[in-house]
Amino acid sequence: MEITVILSQENETLPKAELIARLETLDINYEIIEEYLGLIQLEVDAGIDDIVELGSHLSYSHEILQTIEKTTPDELEKAVETIDWKEFVKGSFKVRVKKMNQGSVHRNSLERTIGAYIKKTSQQPVSLENAEYTIKLVFTDPVQVVNEHKEVSTVKYNKIMITSLIIKQDKKHFFDTKPHKRPYFHPGSMSPKLACCMVNLAHVHEHDVVLDPFCGTGGILIEAGLRNTTIIGSDIEKHMVEGTKLNLAHEGITNFNIMWEDVRKLEFDEVVDAVAMDPPYGISTTLGGDDTKQLYNEALIAISKHLKLNGYICMASPHYIDLYEVIKGTDLQIIQQHSIRMHKSLTRIITVLIKKG
Ligand SMILES: C[S@@+](CC[C@H](N)C(=O)[O-])C[C@H]1O[C@@H](n2cnc3c(N)ncnc32)[C@H](O)[C@@H]1O
Repeated sequence: MEITVILSQENETLPKAELIARLETLDINYEIIEEYLGLIQLEVDAGIDDIVELGSHLSYSHEILQTIEKTTPDELEKAVETIDWKEFVKGSFKVRVKKMNQGSVHRNSLERTIGAYIKKTSQQPVSLENAEYTIKLVFTDPVQVVNEHKEVSTVKYNKIMITSLIIKQDKKHFFDTKPHKRPYFHPGSMSPKLACCMVNLAHVHEHDVVLDPFCGTGGILIEAGLRNTTIIGSDIEKHMVEGTKLNLAHEGITNFNIMWEDVRKLEFDEVVDAVAMDPPYGISTTLGGDDTKQLYNEALIAISKHLKLNGYICMASPHYIDLYEVIKGTDLQIIQQHSIRMHKSLTRIITVLIKKG
């Protein structure tokens, strides 16, 4: 089936990387067909249930839609009339227009006229409150102009995807699990959204053993634990260890082993399938981050001993640490890096590494 994924535009590279990592984790064969700003179209070897599973833990994808037809604004009416709506609308429905970028479209009248046509041909009722099916017309491939003040505006769109919504991101989850709402809070806790994305980039499967050896308040472990995994964590600070246990219990997660330990001395029996971690950034930017680099290097060597072959590590680090230098002499390879600008003097780098023999 062909799908259209509406990606968050808050980061240039993470949304697509997260989506691809999740497709790989779920073993879904895919081919990228087209990409526009904030939107990607793929042919996937998957059914609706697989797509629901794919979309159910994505941080940076807003919606996954089944592509029914692709057309242009001039051809829209004709395209709508060629679709066998009985096949796509089997219960109450609504029509929604979605514009990628701020172009002008007669949204209300389009939703009304196309809704009326689908109602007539599918013989299903319109329901604005409780629709079983949401038909979305996604306007994309914008033609943009830049005025003399360098302001960009969209004058028209070249493409419309006629789609049916499969799954929408559960924004409530990220809102409800915000760090300050947990029993144990500490500044520096990672946002659930980024933690979820890192778990995805680490290719975490159901039933995996997942390690975060710098667990802090447990933000990453919560996201991993909510996927029916076994989680192992550690922290050098006892209050963090106790705090993580409280926070995991608060989410109803019970399958964990949290140790009060320096990562470099970690000992346990399990083989780890994936690692996601956010080590301390240190303060020694002016010294070139030497102490931090040494901690990272020793930590990665220690972690790698527990990690399975071809297992992934996803780690966050500050921009002033060169991870290529840090991993010299280890059995790890960097496969991708992404930047998140935090403020003027800090950019967070999200790196995905793989263990090679
Ligand atoms: C940036 S915080 C992690 C935040 C965490 N992701 C969260 O959501 O709360 C880094 C953590 O690493 C811990 N840490 C620092 N050095 C460590 C070491 N050598 N071994 C294990 N933990 C360490 C710190 O105590 C701190 O809790």
